[in-house]
This record gives sequence, structure tokens and C-alpha cells, in this order.
Amino acid sequence: MVISAKEMLQEARAGKYAVAQININNLEWTKSVLTVAEELRSPIILGCTQGAGKYMTGYKTVVGMVNGMLESMNITVPVALHLDHGSYEHCYQCIDAGFMSIMFDGSSYPIEENVAKTKELVEVCHKKGISLEAEVGAIGGDEDGVAAQGECADPDECKRIADLGIDFLAAGIGNIHGQYPANWKGLSFETLEAIKEKVGDLPLVLHGGTGIPEDMIKKAISLGVAKINVNTECQLSFAAATRKYIEEGRDLQGKGFDPRKLLLPGAEAIKETVRQKLTLFGSVGKA
Ligand code: 13P
Repeated sequence: MVISAKEMLQEARAGKYAVAQININNLEWTKSVLTVAEELRSPIILGCTQGAGKYMTGYKTVVGMVNGMLESMNITVPVALHLDHGSYEHCYQCIDAGFMSIMFDGSSYPIEENVAKTKELVEVCHKKGISLEAEVGAIGGDEDGVAAQGECADPDECKRIADLGIDFLAAGIGNIHGQYPANWKGLSFETLEAIKEKVGDLPLVLHGGTGIPEDMIKKAISLGVAKINVNTECQLSFAAATRKYIEEGRDLQGKGFDPRKLLLPGAEAIKETVRQKLTLFGSVGKA
């Protein structure tokens, strides 16, 4: 089924669930995520950071790999490949490479510049049928080299950006990329409600999905969040399973050093993390 990320999130918003954006880093990641989305009949967004794009040798490779897998794995659920935290220049690189969904992270610019660049990108993307996510109020922590202090977005600034015709909005509500510190104060539902009041039915995006308690996730969805991004949690489960394999000496048994065996426990661990997230976000059976 070919539907755009915009339609995916509008359906999620109406159905009171969230679509997961799971970030991909390589072939194993992508294969694991697509396998679970198909198995659970869930729509899915594959997130690619600038760093991951570079690691995989460039955006064209990522587009080629994802399109190839959609065909060879007979994937029938809706899938969108999405640039995560793109700079102005990288947005254009991904548009040229064939991404169907883009995030322009203009949160580090003064608001006037964020508005001007977002406006331009909305026009360019929509002419090509590409969905655009914009950001207001920097998400804290470090997302693959894009670092910022966590802050709560100004609801009036959110409205200015929303009125430009973007398809979904990432607004800081105290969320942080990476693991949450022990003294984290939690999500600011007050801010989320104030933003929702201003932007109406526009689907909202919650970044920093790793480690947010389940009750907060459910409340955020009930207040208009229709996309939740997860990256670190898959990295942690992949690393733990790989560590266990090596510590048990399984790489030294028979042909245990074969990369297809060595990377298998990690790939299976990613699958389990993705299953848990799709179930929690309520997108299972929606495709
Ligand atoms: P985590 O790494 O905290 O899960 O955040 C992912 C994210 O928000 C990607 O944009």
C-alpha cells in the first residue's frame, strides 16, 4: 500500500494511535524493522539521520536499499523513509535522492529564519508529494551529532510554523534524545496542551522516545502525538545481545564468527524492541 507519511499520521491522529519512527543504521536494522512492521500489520517510518546517511555511504544508497527490501521482502504495509533532523542543505540532498518524507530541523535558527526556510521547503516538498516535518523548540540531548538543550516550545511559534502548511510538527515538551537522566522532570503536558490548542488537528511528533514511561506515552498520544521517534533503545538492545553472544564465546564455536551469525542476536533484539514499541504506540493491526 502506498500512502504518504502525511496520510499515515492523519489516520493515526484520527485513530488515536502513533506511528513509530524507528531510526535505521544499516541493513540489519532496516530488515529487522520492516520484518516486524509486516508481521504486526503496522505502518512504519524509517528514520535516517545525516550521520546514518553518511555511514551508509550516502542517501542514494539508503533509498536504493529500502526500495530493494520493500520489493524483495514483499512488504505490503505503509512504509516511509524519512530524513531525521535535516539541515537546510541535507533536506535538498534527500529530496534529490528520492526520500518521500523530510524533517527540516530549523530549531537552532532564530524563529524568523526558521519560518522562512520552512516556508520554502514546504513549497518544494509539496510540489513533489514529499511530506515535511518541522521543529520548534530544540529537543534536548544529542541526536547523532545534532545537539541541543531540551526546551519547551513556544505555542505561538508553533502556530506560526504550523500555518505554513507543514505536515507534522516536532515541538519540544521537555523530551530529550538518548537516555533520560535520573532527575528528568518528565514531559510537560501543559506545553503539549497549549500547543494542541494553537495547532488544532496537525499531527505532533514526539522525539526522544527511548525511555519515556508508558503512561506518559499514552497520555501524549491522547493529546495529539501521532508519531514517536525511537533510536537509542534499538542501539542498546542490539549492543546488549551482541555483547552476550561474544561473552558466551559463541563467535568462537564452529562458524560463529560468520557475520550473519554474529549479527543475528542483535538483529533479533531490535525486532523485540520494535514489537514492544508498536504495541505500546497502538499501531499494531492498523495497516
Ligand atoms: P532516542 O534516541 O532518544 O530514542 O530519540 C530518537 C529520536 O528522537 C530521533 O529523532
